[in-house]
Amino acid sequence: MDALTRYLEQQQDRFVTDLMGALRIPSVSTDPARKDDCRRCAEHFAGELKRVGMTRAEVVPTNGHPVVYAEWLGAPGKPTVLLYGHYDVQPPEPLELWKTPPFEPELRDGKLFARGAVDDKGQVYMHVNAIDAHMQVNGKLPVNVKLVIEGEEECGSDNLEGFLNDRRNELGADVIVVSDTAMLGPDQPALTYSLRGILYTQIDVQGPGHDLHSGHFGGAVQNPANALAAIIAALKDGDGRITVPGFYEHVRPLSPAERESLKSVPFDERGFMAESGAPAAAGERGYTTLERISARPTLDVNGIWGGYQGAGAKTVLPAKAHAKVSMRLVADQDPADLFPKFEAYVKRVAPPGVTVEVHDLHSCRPFLSDPAHPMLESARRALARAWPKPPAMIREGGSIPVMATFQQVFNLPSIMMGFGLDDDNVHAPNEKISLSSYHGGTRSVAYLYEELAQAK
Ligand code: BES
Ligand code: MN
Ligand code: MN
Repeated sequence: MDALTRYLEQQQDRFVTDLMGALRIPSVSTDPARKDDCRRCAEHFAGELKRVGMTRAEVVPTNGHPVVYAEWLGAPGKPTVLLYGHYDVQPPEPLELWKTPPFEPELRDGKLFARGAVDDKGQVYMHVNAIDAHMQVNGKLPVNVKLVIEGEEECGSDNLEGFLNDRRNELGADVIVVSDTAMLGPDQPALTYSLRGILYTQIDVQGPGHDLHSGHFGGAVQNPANALAAIIAALKDGDGRITVPGFYEHVRPLSPAERESLKSVPFDERGFMAESGAPAAAGERGYTTLERISARPTLDVNGIWGGYQGAGAKTVLPAKAHAKVSMRLVADQDPADLFPKFEAYVKRVAPPGVTVEVHDLHSCRPFLSDPAHPMLESARRALARAWPKPPAMIREGGSIPVMATFQQVFNLPSIMMGFGLDDDNVHAPNEKISLSSYHGGTRSVAYLYEELAQAK
């Protein structure tokens, strides 16, 4: 066993303790009440990056939550790696469903439970640990490293583009490395070459000017909740296709070759379906589950409300009804092009007697890169050293808003090497990271820096 691998093994318990320190900070970016916690979390990460030997580590203010920027440039002639991650987390609610409080990390059965354990603090710490290991064992890193850890990924990365543009000259690199995606199983690593984009909207339907007695007025005016149901029902057809005119116009179809190669991805469909808890699979006709969750666009109601929600019965005709409707997008769909089409269609299918407003809450573009890019060879070699099976090449269904920007503005190859598992409860109560993924991920990224140093 080489000295680096030995050090990584010896330090495992401390790596867990270090991560727990970051998990105690409730950096919920969407919650204005957590603004100070987000700043504290950014300062914590900057401190940690200094501790492990980065020569520069600063907390950079933005119009939203600060960005952490750090660098170590002591490997002249070697490639420069731009690492990206996020220190913000999703809201922990509903709190009553957590077995232990979300910001009091707890170890149970080889798993560490806390909000942010895997998304993304645990995966950022893999890099912190790997940097620490190289510094302690060799006194240096094999490559030059620049780190950008943002605090607004979970609410759309609205202020990151400004930071990237301001610092464009400083951020020059040869490759972007991101650990914020998933593996296919506990011993099946993966490299992600595509992410979906998103268009997230809210529909507000207004009927009468105020709530009405449903007997005295019922039948004479349009009920906004009924109208909203009609609108939502019109958004998809019986084949699971989205009916918004022009929605599929720019969708890049899956080539027969890619469909064929997706068939050989070691995707555990039964395990995936079992984890969902749904009684049966359902989705767009003519596509496999793997294609549906990664290479095809979707439309989903995230929340719907209006009218009486309390115990018992209340005979009321509500004045308003609302829904949050999001669409996951694939290459080459553009949310800026789709929003007006969606808005016009929603208004067109709305029954008479209500007024309808549609709001664009946030959006990002999809990301698709070349799965055969030579830079990925280093990542393949690193993963093959750290895991029993070679990595699968996959498309992911989630979104990381900045990836399209990196591709379009920086024009750099990306390595998305992530270590989440289907049962990690990402964005849900009882989020966790398995220690085997945490330590395997740390090993993988430590090896990745070595492999990138050798890349031609
Ligand atoms: N890490 C996820 C993205 C992800 C999830 C990638 C699953 C691969 C598999 C990221 O933190 C995330 O949750 N992104 C949001 C972005 C949105 C708020 C703009 C998402 O996908 O919902
Ligand atoms: Mn994430
Ligand atoms: Mn997330």
